[in-house]
Amino acid sequence: MGEKKTILTGIRPTGNLHLGHYFGAVGNWVKSQDAYNEFIEIADVQALTDNFNNPDKVRKNVRELTLDLLACGIDPKKANIFIQSMIPEIAELTVYYSNLVTVARLERNPTIKTEIAQKKELFGNSGESVTYGFLGYPVSQAADITALGGTLVPVGDDQLPLLEQAREIVRKFNSIYGETLQEPEHLLSSIPRLKGLDGNEKMGKSLGNAIFLIDSDEVVTKKVMDAKTDTTKIHKDDPANPDVCMVYYYHKLVSGENLETICTECKEGKRGCMQCKRELAKNLIDFLKPIKERRKYYEENPQEVDTILKEGTKKARFKASETMAKVRKAIKIDYFEE
Ligand code: TRP
Repeated sequence: MGEKKTILTGIRPTGNLHLGHYFGAVGNWVKSQDAYNEFIEIADVQALTDNFNNPDKVRKNVRELTLDLLACGIDPKKANIFIQSMIPEIAELTVYYSNLVTVARLERNPTIKTEIAQKKELFGNSGESVTYGFLGYPVSQAADITALGGTLVPVGDDQLPLLEQAREIVRKFNSIYGETLQEPEHLLSSIPRLKGLDGNEKMGKSLGNAIFLIDSDEVVTKKVMDAKTDTTKIHKDDPANPDVCMVYYYHKLVSGENLETICTECKEGKRGCMQCKRELAKNLIDFLKPIKERRKYYEENPQEVDTILKEGTKKARFKASETMAKVRKAIKIDYFEE
């Protein structure tokens, strides 16, 4: 019997989702929820590693993120959304994993290295901003993945070193305590990183170039109007190169059948940038419409959202407790078990 493979993915509750999240990640989770047994973790414990002094922000965003995920089309009948802090087995597994990782290895993890460099830029060179919890979050992420039996992990390219670290931990665990856990594999998104409308390599909240799923039609239009186009095009009927134009880049995501026309007209100088931007704004607004409608439904039914989170968490906890039983047995700390 071909049992469905388990996908485990996670996201930190630190802000609302934008188009970068949708095209790089969440849209794929919506597609994969039919064929896989899917767990989506709201990584509040991980968010606290960076935001331990701002619990209100994390708490508020657990709700916001759940609404955004449901708005995108995550179907609670197919996928399980769960809250990390409500699965104590993950914290427990993190403790045992932390023996299997050296501090030097964590400091060499490229994702962590980049993040530490960013912190130093923000807080000065003291190094005091790097807490034990922050340095150890890859260990806790390895626990997230394996506690839930996640064999497949959809990630952006910035997360690959974290997955490699998880694989190393699993190998070490199995070599010391016997074959117990399965090494996770990554599922790389076809758009691991969506460019910003300003031409930046990444769309991000902190970069100020993001279109949020909850942005109003007016805000979407305004952001599109500011998008970067081919700077060599001066007049409306100058031919231009769509490949260097962010408006065209976004048309590729939402303007389906008209794409060829847009491309040819742009190259032949038959389309002004203003018209092109207006069309893009309209298509983006149309794209966001059903997302906003679903969000509104869940905003108006908060008890249903509670139930979705409780049920998802219950299923996740059941799975994590099965894994922990095996792990305790392997480490010989399964005292007084039958
Ligand atoms: N580190 C991920 C991020 O910052 C979030 C995350 C937490 C995650 N646990 C995970 C991703 C497990 C994949 C698998 O976006």
